[in-house]
Amino acid sequence: MTYEAYLDQAIGQLHDEGRYRTFIDIVRHKGQFPHATRRRPDGSEQPVTVWCGNDYLGMGQHPVVLAAMHDALDSVGAGSGGTRNISGTTLYHKALEDELADLHGKESALLFTSAYIANDATLSTLPKLFPGLIIYSDALNHASMIEGVRRNGGAKRIFRHNDVAHLRELLEADDPAAPKLIAFESVYSMDGDFGPIEAICDLADEFNALTYIDEVHAVGMYGPRGGGVTERDRLAQRIDIINGTLAKAYGVMGGYIAASEKMCDAIRSYAPGFIFTTSLPPAVAAGAAASVRHLKTDQALRDLHQERARILKTRFKAFGMPLIDHGSHIVPVIVGNPVHTKLLSDMLLDDHGIYVQPINFPTVPRGTERLRFTPSPVHGPDEMDKLIRAMDSLWSHCALNRQELAG
Ligand SMILES: Cc1ncc(COP(=O)(O)O)c(C=O)c1O
Repeated sequence: MTYEAYLDQAIGQLHDEGRYRTFIDIVRHKGQFPHATRRRPDGSEQPVTVWCGNDYLGMGQHPVVLAAMHDALDSVGAGSGGTRNISGTTLYHKALEDELADLHGKESALLFTSAYIANDATLSTLPKLFPGLIIYSDALNHASMIEGVRRNGGAKRIFRHNDVAHLRELLEADDPAAPKLIAFESVYSMDGDFGPIEAICDLADEFNALTYIDEVHAVGMYGPRGGGVTERDRLAQRIDIINGTLAKAYGVMGGYIAASEKMCDAIRSYAPGFIFTTSLPPAVAAGAAASVRHLKTDQALRDLHQERARILKTRFKAFGMPLIDHGSHIVPVIVGNPVHTKLLSDMLLDDHGIYVQPINFPTVPRGTERLRFTPSPVHGPDEMDKLIRAMDSLWSHCALNRQELAG
């Protein structure tokens, strides 16, 4: 077989399984999010409203963030010019790490180029620091955690999603003297459900395990200063390593861990994914720091975000849309069939200028294919009215099931 043929086979397999991904090209308009312009493959343009972005609070266009980025760009130029060890550590990186350590009430924080890399690099490095480490990982953890755990060569146990009794069984089955770490998330991004943080911390205490939490879909949005669900529930001190992103609620780019000084020092010194890569551009660090700082006090924005999510869920429910509601900001409407999900997404986009990406297997289990809406403070009543009208008419058009309202 030729190299070309191998590529054809790999791509063809995705087409055959209905898993081939097509990207929608959009240009977002600063100051007008969630409005954007779609560029169709034929070059024509269409105004669209983005309903599936993870710029959850609209911070990607916030004047405080943009000003900080412009200032840094004008003062120090574009790239950092090096790895953290070789000329790539600047005052901007240090200031952002200080801001993040303070956010989570930890001694230290360590920046990575994304939260994906932060998860992968940290989890794959921990067994080097704790020989014989066993990692207990929630079955629905993000791909970046799975990859980090998989690559680390250490022992792993997968516990059923949010099943603390199963986690206990697994912990009990292992050598009490073995070093252990429990890795899980605070908000799972596809269902919008919360991890049982306190119960997991109790188990960690009982079995002398370290705790690692991914707060990627919570930082900036939960807790009185945006420190995530661990801050909201006053549990941050019981978590050894907190992972977060600067690319979603903070609206910029980058990822991090926050932990003890010693833990950060060790990861900094041993993780290839931290050591051997160019650090974030200073302007990115400056924008992220401004965003984190701003959201430490802007509770009104957090409240508005939650209110918009509640309103959207209430309005969907009134039309009998089958949605998953765990009380978070994520609004998944279950279609339950990949063909219908893609069809709905295409019709929303082409006929109504509403952009929501279909979510299919393997991202979610078969039979739970969905449209995942992410309402934000910048999705006002007009955008919401348009969305509700479009969904209602398409739901009828496709003769999809509606749920009876309880009570
Ligand atoms: C749970 C979770 N962790 C980590 C990441 C990676 O974050 P980043 O985009 O900063 O790499 C994502 C991204 O979607 C995520 O959903």
